[in-house]
Amino acid sequence: MKIIALNGSPRKGWNTHQMLEAFLEGARAADAGTETELVHLFDLSYTGCRSCFACKRKGGPSYGRCAYPDGARELLAALAAADGIVCGSPIYFHDITAQLRGLLERLFFPFHSFRAGETTLAPKPLRSAMIYTMNVTEEEMRAAGYPQNLATTEGYFSYTFGHPPALLYACDTWEFSDYSLYEASIWDEAAKWRRRQEQFPRDLAAARAAGMEMVRAISIDHPA
Ligand SMILES: Cc1cc2nc3c(=O)[nH]c(=O)nc-3n(C[C@H](O)[C@H](O)[C@H](O)COP(=O)(O)O)c2cc1C
Repeated sequence: MKIIALNGSPRKGWNTHQMLEAFLEGARAADAGTETELVHLFDLSYTGCRSCFACKRKGGPSYGRCAYPDGARELLAALAAADGIVCGSPIYFHDITAQLRGLLERLFFPFHSFRAGETTLAPKPLRSAMIYTMNVTEEEMRAAGYPQNLATTEGYFSYTFGHPPALLYACDTWEFSDYSLYEASIWDEAAKWRRRQEQFPRDLAAARAAGMEMVRAISIDHPA
């Protein structure tokens, strides 16, 4: 069983990356045979869908897959062959980062069949999870409608791969290593630090549990 994690944050070692590592740790703890890989999307050079429509060309060599020759091509092939995908993204302007969005366009669109009566061209159902990290509190996130905003993208996992993604939110994150160096007086640093000490470990534990749960679900989908 293989699970691939996609880090949509430019910051290695920070909130989103840590949540993804915890998820993969949980996956390996659930079954030592689980193969895991974490890809930092900002290390790759690619764009979103270029609308070349090679993936829709009748009888074409890349029908149903994205063969655009850039830094996403190998990863897209690996994702199609994986059993689980976990995406992590900081929230940027109420949404996932452009880097993750671009990759998901390339992942979903080739599998989106334009042939009447057919929905997905994905080779097999796949389990997925979305991990979001953000500055706002959970109450603010809900009041601002982030979950509704994110639901459209999440829905493409169900449509394409047959299962809705598991959802995890880490709210009110610790954003700077030293708040005193930045103009950031809208935040209460002491409250942020308390939250970091008390809540973030719980968020990591939830990510670990979600990783275990994904392995359990995959094992049921594909009994040995
Ligand atoms: C360009 C930019 C836009 C952001 N927009 C939002 C936002 O709309 N809502 C929010 O709650 N946090 C926002 N944030 C804060 C990040 O989502 C938050 O700090 C996140 O946990 C960072 O993840 P990281 O530590 O993995 O990089 C933004 C940060 C940046 C740099």
